[in-house]
Amino acid sequence: MKPSPKMIPLMVAGGVVTVIIGFVIVVLLISWFSNPPFGLGNAPPQPVAFPHTIHVAENNIQCEFCHRNVTKGAAATVPAVETCLFCHKEIDGGTVTAQAEIEKVRTAFETDTPINWERVHRLPDHVRFIHEAHIRYFTDEDIPVKYGINGEEFGTTPDVAQTCTICHGDVANKTVVQPKTGQSLKMGTCVDCHRLNSVSTDCTVCHK
Ligand code: HEC
Ligand code: HEC
Ligand code: HEC
Ligand code: HEC
Ligand code: HEC
Repeated sequence: MKPSPKMIPLMVAGGVVTVIIGFVIVVLLISWFSNPPFGLGNAPPQPVAFPHTIHVAENNIQCEFCHRNVTKGAAATVPAVETCLFCHKEIDGGTVTAQAEIEKVRTAFETDTPINWERVHRLPDHVRFIHEAHIRYFTDEDIPVKYGINGEEFGTTPDVAQTCTICHGDVANKTVVQPKTGQSLKMGTCVDCHRLNSVSTDCTVCHK
């Protein structure tokens, strides 16, 4: 059938809509596979086999001793090699493999090269997240009732390390930090928790 002149603009409009929908689908697929949202995917291999277990669960080093900015600003930050040398100038590993990992840390320090830790959790660039606000809220004794991700009510005020657990799971007892064993913080998780704790859910709170 030959289209009448009247139908041509409609067909063009239809084609444009199809192209736009196709484009949106492709963008979503790319963003899903190239940058899995926080909480999905496997942890990438790290340049040094750093176990949280030995440091936190066995030697009681506090989270904020290494993640120094976590109670102060947006990013928690991963420690610089100087922080490791604070102990590992002296402390050797208990096994040959552990010693080899510690030697990597000393070499990095001596050659003044940073250890390029792979990021485990990363939100897309258009999302804003501030650690400090969350830690302050959950550790505040003056807020009587606080709710966790699954709507659970905190009877007692959590300390800093327990607050990390709400979103990251039990890192203290993990050899490797895996997003899968923490919470999968997709937008719905953020929004649900904000709603439960009567925090604003305006798009602009989280989106730049
Ligand atoms: C002795 C230093 C040290 C201490 C103490 C420590 N961490 Fe870490 N943490 C690291 C290093 C180094 C990395 C980067 C390597 C990795 O991901 O395992 C890291 C990574 C992480 C990550 C993943 C970061 C990312 O890329 O997304 C989380 C979450 C985390 N730590 C939480 C905690 C929590 C919670 C505690 C306390 C219970 C804690 N850490 C205590 C050194 C430390
Ligand atoms: C406050 C002290 C302290 C700091 C800071 C510290 N460590 Fe350790 N680390 C220890 C202790 C204690 C051990 C256990 C040593 C042993 O086996 O006797 C250890 C063990 C290790 C081991 C061997 C683990 C194994 O499999 O046995 C590695 C690797 C390591 N640390 C890396 C790091 C890195 C990387 C940093 C900096 C991000 C760091 N440490 C910061 C105290 C520290
Ligand atoms: C309310 C949820 C939540 C809590 C509570 C939380 N985190 Fe995070 N954490 C996140 C999110 C989301 C990211 C990814 C942030 C990004 O990509 O901008 C992240 C990233 C990180 C990272 C890697 C990137 C960075 O910010 O340097 C570390 C390390 C980390 N968290 C440690 C901690 C520690 C330690 C605590 C407790 C003191 C904690 N987090 C508490 C949600 C949380
Ligand atoms: C376990 C509950 C919980 C989860 C999960 C959570 N939040 Fe929040 N968030 C809060 C609370 C409570 C506040 C208010 C803190 C205050 O009173 O300052 C807050 C505040 C914020 C703020 C405002 C900070 C400021 O000072 O301007 C931002 C931005 C934010 N959250 C982003 C996020 C994002 C993004 C996620 C998901 C990756 C997330 N939050 C997950 C509880 C949560
Ligand atoms: C409490 C924090 C928070 C609030 C409020 C919030 N978002 Fe999000 N949003 C996120 C996080 C975190 C992500 C990334 C993870 C994901 O895709 O689930 C996201 C992802 C998105 C995406 C997907 C983009 C992509 O990368 O694929 C869109 C679209 C979006 N948000 C729109 C909105 C709109 C519209 C509102 C207001 C009605 C809103 N958001 C409110 C946290 C929030």
